[in-house]
This record gives sequence, C-alpha cells and structure tokens, in this order.
Amino acid sequence: MPYSTLLSPGRIGALELRNRIVVTAMGVNFGEDDGQCGDRAVAYHEEQARGGAGLIISGACGVMYPIGQVQPWQIAISEDAHIQGLKRVVDAVNRHGSRLAVQLHQGGLNAVDDTAAGRPQWCPSVPELARGDFIDGFLLPELESFARTGMPTYKVLTKEDIRTLVQAFAAGAGRAKEAGCDAVEVHGGHGYVPSSFLSPKTNKRTDEYGGSLENRARLLLEIVRAVRAEVGPDFPIIVKIDSREVGREGGITIDHAKVTARWVEEAGADAITVSAYHDSSQGKMHSASNIPHEPNWNLPAAAAIKQVVSIPIIASGRVEPEHADAEIRDGRFDFLAMGRKLLADPHLPRKLAEGRIEEIRPCIYCYTCVSAIYTRESTRCTVNPECGFEYAREGASRSTTRKRVAVVGGGPGGMEAARRLARDGHEVVLIEKSDRLGGTLRFASLAYAANEPLLDWLRAQVEASEIDVRLETVATPELLASLAPDDVVVATGALRSLPPIPGADLPHVLSGDEMRDMMLGASSEALKQKTSLMTRIATRAGAATGLTANLDFVRKATHAWMPLGKNVVIVGGELVGLELAEFLSERGRNVTVVDEVPRLGAGITLVRRLRLLADLGEHGLGLYPGSKDIRIEPGQVCFTDDGGEAHTAPADHVIVAKGTTGDSTQAEAFRHAGLRVHEIGDGTGVGYIEGAMRDAMEAVDVINAG
Ligand SMILES: Cc1cc2nc3c(=O)[nH]c(=O)nc-3n(C[C@H](O)[C@H](O)[C@H](O)COP(=O)(O)O)c2cc1C
Ligand code: SF4
Repeated sequence: MPYSTLLSPGRIGALELRNRIVVTAMGVNFGEDDGQCGDRAVAYHEEQARGGAGLIISGACGVMYPIGQVQPWQIAISEDAHIQGLKRVVDAVNRHGSRLAVQLHQGGLNAVDDTAAGRPQWCPSVPELARGDFIDGFLLPELESFARTGMPTYKVLTKEDIRTLVQAFAAGAGRAKEAGCDAVEVHGGHGYVPSSFLSPKTNKRTDEYGGSLENRARLLLEIVRAVRAEVGPDFPIIVKIDSREVGREGGITIDHAKVTARWVEEAGADAITVSAYHDSSQGKMHSASNIPHEPNWNLPAAAAIKQVVSIPIIASGRVEPEHADAEIRDGRFDFLAMGRKLLADPHLPRKLAEGRIEEIRPCIYCYTCVSAIYTRESTRCTVNPECGFEYAREGASRSTTRKRVAVVGGGPGGMEAARRLARDGHEVVLIEKSDRLGGTLRFASLAYAANEPLLDWLRAQVEASEIDVRLETVATPELLASLAPDDVVVATGALRSLPPIPGADLPHVLSGDEMRDMMLGASSEALKQKTSLMTRIATRAGAATGLTANLDFVRKATHAWMPLGKNVVIVGGELVGLELAEFLSERGRNVTVVDEVPRLGAGITLVRRLRLLADLGEHGLGLYPGSKDIRIEPGQVCFTDDGGEAHTAPADHVIVAKGTTGDSTQAEAFRHAGLRVHEIGDGTGVGYIEGAMRDAMEAVDVINAG
C-alpha cells in the first residue's frame, strides 16, 4: 500500500500515535490578546485533527509571556489562566484521534514584542550588529511597520535570570500536562534563547554557559532536565534543535548538533525535531533553513542525527509524503512534520489514507503564510482561504436549494468558484473564452513552477465534477439570459493596458499579455504584426500539437529557443515583471528591469521577494527602481536612475509588465441585463491568486446563503 510506512502507527516515549504525520509547530498568530487559546486556535487545530494527523504541535507558546513574545497574538502558557484554553484545544484534537504537544518557547533575540513594548530581549551576550540585505527587500509600508517596533535593547542573562528561565520552561511543561496535553516540545532552535546560547556566533559568554559546546549546551540541557523533573518519567518530551545555522559563518554546525542531540537524549528527551537556523540579516536565508525553499533541505541533517541517537527523529522542510515514506522505511528518520502542506490542506493525511491523493490541495510555496508573520498579521493561506477562519465558518451554510449558476472566466477564481459551487450541489456552467482553463495561472505556472500543481488540481477538480465547461465561448448577456442562471459569478480578470510610455507603440515592444500569448501558443492581431514569420509558425505548431499546453515542455524548450533577442528590458518591477525577469535571465537573456516605483516586488510576499531579489542579483540583472523619464527607442531604453544618472539599456525587445487594473465592464453589462452578479478575482482590483481564491469562497458563501 502506498504510504504504508508514513501511515503506520508510531511511538514517542509512552505516546502512541496513529501515524507518522506531525503538524509541525507553526506560530500562526491565532491566539487571543492575553495569550489564551480561544475559539480561533481551537477550531484551527481541530480541523487538523479531523484531517488525520497523528500528532499536532502547537505554535510557539510563551513560557514567560509576554516576555519573549514574538507575535501579537501568540499563545502562552506562562500562567495558570492559560490552562483552560489549552485544555479546549487538547479536547478538540483528541476527539478526532490526534494527539497534541505544546511547543515551549522564549523568543530571546527574536522577541519583537519585547522591543515593541520597550522590554529588553533575553540573550547570552549583546549580539554583533549584522549588516545583511534583509531590510533592502522591504516595501515602504513594510519598512514603516518594521521601524515602528523600534530598536532592540538587551538583557544579558545573569545566573539568576537563567534559573528563572529554566523554571519558566518547567512550569510551562507542568501546565501543559495539567491541561491534558499529550506531550511538550522544548523549542531549542531558530535563534530563540536556548538556540542563541548554543550558537558560538551569538554566545560570547565567558562563564560556564559560554565558550565550549558543553557550556553552550548547558542551558538547553538544564531546561530539558527541569522539564523532565516537572512532568515525571512517562510524559513525552520532544526537543527541537538546529542542525546548523545556514549562511552563518562561525554558527552552529552539524557536528555541534550531533553532540547536542546525544546530550539531549541523555537529559531525558523522547524525540528530537531536527530543524535549522540561519543568518537572519540576509534576506534569502529566511527561506533557506527551517522554512526552506529547496525540497528535502534538512533531511541529510536529520539522517546524520538519527545515527547518533536512539530516540525517534522528526524531520521537516518541504518534504513530499512519498519521499518521506521511503526515507522512514530506510531508517533515515521516524516522523514527518509538515507545515505549509497542512495549512494548504489539513486533510492531507486522511486523503493519503483513503487513496484520494489527487484531491490534496497543493501548497504553492508562495510564502503568504510566513510573510504574514513578519508583518505582524495572522497567517493566511493563499490556496486555503478557510485556514484560520474555521471558527467563523463552523457549520457555514451549504445551500439547501440547488441553484443554476453561470461562472464567467476559467482562471483560478472562476475554477475555484465553480468547484465550490458544484461541491455544494449547484448546477454550474463554466464559460471560458479561450480554448483551455487556467487563465493567468497558466503563465504564473510557467514563470514559477510551484504554481503548477494548483493549476492541475483546479482543473482536475473541475473535470471530476459535473460542471458544464464551455470553452471558446464568449459570455454575452444574451448567452447568459438563455441559460437563465440564478446567479452569475464574473471572474474575467484584470484589464491590461499599455501605460503612456514614450515609444510603447514601437514594434519591438510587447505587453505582458502579448508575451504570455507568445509563450503559451495563443495568437492575437497585435502579435501577428509584431512577431516574425518563424515565431508565428513555431507558436502555431506548438499550439496545434498541444505542446504549448504542456508547461514543462515550454519551460524546457524555451531554454533552447525563444522568440526574443539577447537584450530585454522589462518596464515594471512588480510580481509579473520580476518573475518574467528571472524566467528570461535563466534562459540566457541579458535583462534590465526599470520602474518608477521606489521599491521593486509589490505583489510578491515578503519572504519570497527577499529570495527572488537575491536570486536576480545573483543572475547579475540590472534592477532600477525609482527610475524617471523612461523612454523606449529602437534598440534601447533610456531612463534616469534614482540617483539621477542617465542610462541607456540595450533592448532587442521591451516588455511592458505594468498597467493592470480592475475591470468591471462585463459585470456591469450583466447587471444591466438584470442578472444577479458576483464579481471576483483580479477584475475587482488586482489580488493575484490569493485574492481570487478568497473571493471565490466568499461569493459562494453569498450564493449559498440565498
Ligand atoms: C507560518 C509558519 C509559522 C511557523 N512558526 C513556527 C513556530 O512557531 N515554531 C517553530 O518551531 N517553527 C515554526 N515554523 C517552522 C515550521 O515548524 C517548519 O520548520 C517549516 O514550516 C518547514 O516545514 P514545511 O516545509 O512542511 O512547511 C513556522 C512555519 C510557518 C510556515
Ligand atoms: S500560504 Fe502559500 S506557502 Fe503558505 S501554505 Fe498556503 S500555499 Fe503554501
């Protein structure tokens, strides 16, 4: 049976788990103002339990809260008053056969709430000032919010403070046990207090808590022993540690981690979660350690640590269940903890067990969930708009009346609305003017391959339903009237017009839409005039043979041939422009990006933007935010950079990826014809995939409600 190892029961100390799937700790900012777990946290975790995970680990739960707090709505376990809310979570989770562990946490040098409240951050020694590019990728509103927190001050821990801290962890564990939790996870990683002591880079102490590894590990081991003493011999204790500090010279190494892991086992831990930390001053590193972009990034470290201990190892970090199944079978680790995949679809474990793999809603690695935490918002998931709103949607209306609904536009919003409507028992007609479903998600998938599983999933969901899909059909008011729908969902996307840039009408200038059409085998009058006979033949041949429908083929084929010259200037440095810049530079083009906006990367979530900008820098692209007097001429683009210097960038082709606005024209025409219209997606203002998915959910709620 596929996934039989992953789905087989497992054991952590005395704790029996129904399978080897763990919801990794994610501080999602769903707590109440006072650190309590309220309805929001309860319903969020209950959904994960319903979805079938064996063990659910809570997000970082403050043992000294509010001291050491990292999020405005972080959960806490620093007072007896916190027990009651936690008990509700445990009961809800246990009801569905899952177990709950609480992650014990003190944020130390990452405790932004300490800084915001004017408290010093707890640390082993005053940290060095790191000078990375982290802040360079922030947009201005993000910078303002970041600056509002203020400058950190530090509390270098005395031995008395260390005793207080150790006791706080022990007391937190005691409260977790009292609340009925099934285990605790001591957070010994991610730069938080125990990790900052373990790192030779942040720990410069000269007493018995600094210097040698034995001394640096002393705090964590004292915590583990104190927790064990508090909870007794049979209560499961998991300890999370960093296997290394990525990109941080002089930081924790795998050799340190192996020794620490052995000591952690000796101190009384029942399992070890193998994670990683990084140089937080470098933007790209924020997706290169514990929340990695690269698949299986932390698995070699998990396997190395597994070799030196005899307790189970929990591994995580963009791991596919299939891969985990094989590695667990080979004895390289014992449990797979997943984060993002379970935000995207908390029912993943159940769907695996029921053989409904194609129904799993995929994570698209967009970093919306993570970036929300950086900007001090509650987590949201792009593909699962219900995430974090389960409490408000319990018993959300599923209509009792079957309605006839026309959905206009087969992009992500239209497909999602159609899928939901069909699921809820409505009769759905999905009308798309082109010859296939996908809309802007097709090009988005070409540029960023992680989007493609969502495209495939939405299409498969539509195909598996009874939706009447009408391709190559223009939705006129007359056509709609003939269908006599009760409701019409309009998901026709944004209006893209070329902004008034001098020279934008020259033949070597393509709009974002034209570029898209060219790559994906569609044709248009404008394209015919602008492209060579060779390009037209290739594009038509691609479309006729179906090759351009295969994004993987297009992705690979464009490495060999693309109808664009060597030098390309992109005017527009938002999501589409930057993704295109990466796509083209990976295909050997010499790309320059110019935009008038002061910072590049709007529309891209912070953590992904930090990575993308760093990648573009590594590719050696010319990036010019804050440009003025942009003028397109034959063979070149002239502009003045933000420092006032004039430039002339060579341009065989210019792509204008700007000028996208909402467009209600069609919706208005339908309204005028007396139809009950719900507008969703980019047509209502550009909200990208997240906006489309959320709008679809909300429109279907309204339709269901009557
Ligand atoms: C929104 C979010 C919040 C997180 N918060 C925590 C946390 O509170 N404690 C922790 O140890 N790790 C935290 N992490 C890291 C995860 O535990 C895990 O290492 C990471 O998500 C990698 O697994 P994945 O690739 O399956 O998402 C967080 C991750 C995400 C996505
Ligand atoms: S927000 Fe994006 S990265 Fe996060 S879980 Fe959802 S799809 Fe995945």
